[in-house]
Parts: sequence; C-alpha cells; structure tokens
Amino acid sequence: MSSGENSLAPRIPAAIMPLVACMIISCGSSSSSDHPIGNSTPPTPEACDIYAAGGTPCVAAHSMTRALFGAYNGPLYQVQRSSDGTTLDIGLLAAGGYAAIAPQDSFCVDTYCIVTRIYDQTANHNDLTIEGAGGNGGADVGAAANALPVEAGGNQVYGLSISAGQGYRNDVTKGVATNGQPEGMYMVTSGTHVNAGCCFDYGNAETSGDDTGNGHMDAVNFSTACWSAPCYGDGPWVQADLENGLFQSDEGFSTNASNTGIDDPFVTAMLKNDGQTQFELRSGNAQSGVLTTEYAGGLPVFPGYAPMHQEGAIVLGTGGDNSNGSIGSFFEGVMTSGFPSDATEAAVQANIVSVGYDTATNATSGTLAVGSEVSLQVTLAGLTNYYLRHEAAMGTQIVVASELDATSAASDLANGTWVVRRGFANANCFSFEARDQPGEFIRHFNFVLYAQPYDGSLTNAGDATFCAMTGNAGSGTSFQSSNYPTRYIRQFDGGAFMAADGGNYAWDVTAGWAQDTTFVVTAPLAP
Ligand code: AHR
Ligand code: AHR
Repeated sequence: MSSGENSLAPRIPAAIMPLVACMIISCGSSSSSDHPIGNSTPPTPEACDIYAAGGTPCVAAHSMTRALFGAYNGPLYQVQRSSDGTTLDIGLLAAGGYAAIAPQDSFCVDTYCIVTRIYDQTANHNDLTIEGAGGNGGADVGAAANALPVEAGGNQVYGLSISAGQGYRNDVTKGVATNGQPEGMYMVTSGTHVNAGCCFDYGNAETSGDDTGNGHMDAVNFSTACWSAPCYGDGPWVQADLENGLFQSDEGFSTNASNTGIDDPFVTAMLKNDGQTQFELRSGNAQSGVLTTEYAGGLPVFPGYAPMHQEGAIVLGTGGDNSNGSIGSFFEGVMTSGFPSDATEAAVQANIVSVGYDTATNATSGTLAVGSEVSLQVTLAGLTNYYLRHEAAMGTQIVVASELDATSAASDLANGTWVVRRGFANANCFSFEARDQPGEFIRHFNFVLYAQPYDGSLTNAGDATFCAMTGNAGSGTSFQSSNYPTRYIRQFDGGAFMAADGGNYAWDVTAGWAQDTTFVVTAPLAP
C-alpha cells in the first residue's frame, strides 16, 4: 500500500495502540469548489471505440470520470442529496469529454450526496444501481458522491470510493456474456485503497445475488485478498473472481509466483476469458506505461470453470453473492463481447494513460485554499521540524507528528503532504486528503487522528471536518473539530489527537495545550 509503512511503528504512542486496534476502516474526502481548467475533450478514439474497432465491442461502459465513446454525450452518473431526497444527473463538459461536476457541487452544498446510479454508456443501458440484499450480505448503501476528488484531463472529477457495505449491481442486463461466451473487461481502480475483504469486483455475476456455483462469475477483482496460500508479494493483486474463488492462474486460487501485486495510486485491472479453456489477467499503472501480463493460460482445473457458466448480471464493489466486506476505488470500467486481442487491450491502456488521472490540486500551495497542497508544522520549541503525517499501523493509516526534513525519504515527505478540501460537514471549514493516497482524509475516531476514506455518513463528515482559526498560542493556525468544538488537533507524545483544554484523556492535559494545538500551514513537503 503506502510508503513508509513499517518504519514508523515504534513512534506510535503506546497510549493509543488499543484504540488503533479497535478501529474500523471508514472514509474519505471532500469536494473542491475550485476546478482546474483542463481539456474538455480527451483524445479519440476512446476505450469503447478501440474495443469496437477490434471486433469486441463494449456491452457495458461505466465511468465516473469521462465518456468512453468519442460520441457519447449522455449522463455519467446520478447523485441523490439527503436534504430533500432529490436526484441530479451528472453529465459531461462536452461530447466525448470529462465529467462536469460543478452542478454536483452546487446541488450537494450544505448537505451530502450519494451516488444512486452509474449509467451504462452503451445502447444496452446496463445501468448500475445500489445493490440489494444477496445470499451473503444485506442490502448495500450508496457511496458518497464527493469522497474521491481526482483529476482527469486537467479537470476535477470524482471517482467512486467504496466502503464495506456499499456496492452496485444490475441483474437484468442486455448483451453481456452468458454460459461460456467469451468476454473482456477492465476497471481503473486504486492501489492505495484496498483490503482483504470479499470482494471488490467489477464484472459478470449471478442474476440471483446468490452463489450458484463454480464458473457462474467472471469478474475482475482488485484487493489484498489471498484466496488460500501461497500468495506472492503483498498485493494488491489483479485477480479473476470466477465464483467460489479468486484466481491468479490455473494452479489454484491466488497462486502465481510472478504476480506480486501493484500498488500505484491509479491501476488498470484487466481480465478476459474465452469462456471455454482460457483466461488472462493484465495490470498496469493507469498513469503511465504499458500493461503487464500477469497470467495467460488455462482456466482453473477445479470442476465447473471450463467451460464457464456466466449468468450475465453486472456487479461493482461486492462479490457475486453480495459479500460486501471489501473496499476499493472505481473510476471507469467496461465489459465487452468477444475475447479482445492483446493489441486492443494495449491500445485501451494507452487511452487510459492519455486521460492523465491524478490527485486533483490547483496551482496554489502552502495556504488554506481548497485544492492547495500543504504541510502542517508543529510549533512547539524544539519540535519545529515535526509535521503531521500518516503512516500505516495495524491495518489502517494513523496520523502522527514526526520529524521530517531534507534528509527524509521522498515517501515520508509525501506522507506529510495534504490536499486542502472543502469541509465535508461545513463548507466554511476544511478536510485534508493525503496527497499520496487519493480518497484518504484526516478524521478522528475516539479522538485519535487517522487518514481514512470518507464513507458518506454524517458522523464521518463531522469527524473529518476542521475549522481553521488563529492559533491558540496567539499566532499560527489551530484546527477546531466541527463536531466536538471544544477539541482541536493536538500533537502530543508523537501522536495526533482531538484535544480539549483539560479533560479525561492524557492528551487533554492543560500544560502545553495552546502550543501543541497551534500549527503553521507551510508549503508542501513533497511537491
Ligand atoms: O468467488 C469469491 C466469492 O465467493 C464470490 O464473489 C462470492 O459470490 C462467493 O462468496
Ligand atoms: O473521535 C470521537 C468519536 O469517536 C467520533 O466522532 C466517532 O467517529 C467515534 O466514535
């Protein structure tokens, strides 16, 4: 996952270890009202034009970020706001272009929005809506609509940040492969927002929402789920969910010595299956370069996979039976009819790279302006080379105060660099997104600070929103909790907390409180 994971474990204050252990993975980020001006139209032909030219046309095309046909000029997705339950379709800046999110930001201001529909851009209208109860999971909820601000073609857009319990599906589709027919698919996802839960999938699933047996699914999976040892490397891996197992080869489930995983912030995860004897997995950095073939060979030797028995439903973010313990990011994905050629897949990767996926920022830096990149410097005498940074601990990202300077590794400096976002719970306040882990935001839980995805809940919105004011020490800046206004971000004993000036927690001690809660907003440590 992220850099610097193990090196800092000893700096985690002992006082908070039990709290970390209890922590559940949660949420994400805020939207920006400042949209960099980019290209309204990406280069053509686009992904589905390329698949069509290769004789394997898209039968479903879902994207949060852009048109997947040069000629497409319809909606990308629908959002619903909590204040009055109304919905809004989010379309494009131009035909064949990128998502136009300004209407969404206006529609969702001072309330919160979830994504209720992801439109299929093909004539099949295989739209995805919030998944209902399945054989192994209760009904899902919609993902927050502004939890993953990223850049595409120089424009700010939103990806879909899926937390556990969230997923999308269509059980009544047209044109999707069934019962041994060949198909291809890919999704653009993220290597920094993953877990080992079952099952962050995009692709072909059962029409019943139940596990109906081996070979009844054919979906690309991206996760750290090791479906029985041995697995190689730490992942996350691109795998095939063929039902009752995630497969990296025909050796048995996740076993493939040459597939050690890919953890780029933007990842192309690709699968094709001829439905009879063969499947292939490819991965790539969605920001640059070409695809790596992780596997091209026979279908699993266990009974039921050759030939396949796909049913033709489409799932996003869960397993075929709605196993919904997984998390992940989704930017775009398509499914095809036929078995795409390697040349077609290579051209699609080039098209994805041309989009220029990146974390959305703007030109300003070092100031509390939405879109600005900043670092947050401790002001206590003797510790002014300390900054707030995130680091991996016990399965999540914790925020700590630690020494960062010119001799620090680039990855450590990146961990101490934040993108300023409009506050989830209050547009006059701020949320802070990890620059190197798109979709992970500073939030408190049991008054300890973490960097985690935003799940769209009101609690998480408040936990991840901080109001800036003149520093409690008389200069600099203090960050007041939006949902616990007596509490401010405090560096204490190497950790970072929401602290009151006197209270029950060790970090509430009055001595040093004013200085410990005062920071300097500096230029970003990592450009
Ligand atoms: O194949 C892995 C998972 O197993 C499927 O996604 C799910 O339907 C079953 O529980
Ligand atoms: O951090 C204090 C509270 O702890 C948060 O509001 C909540 O998420 C958790 O219970």
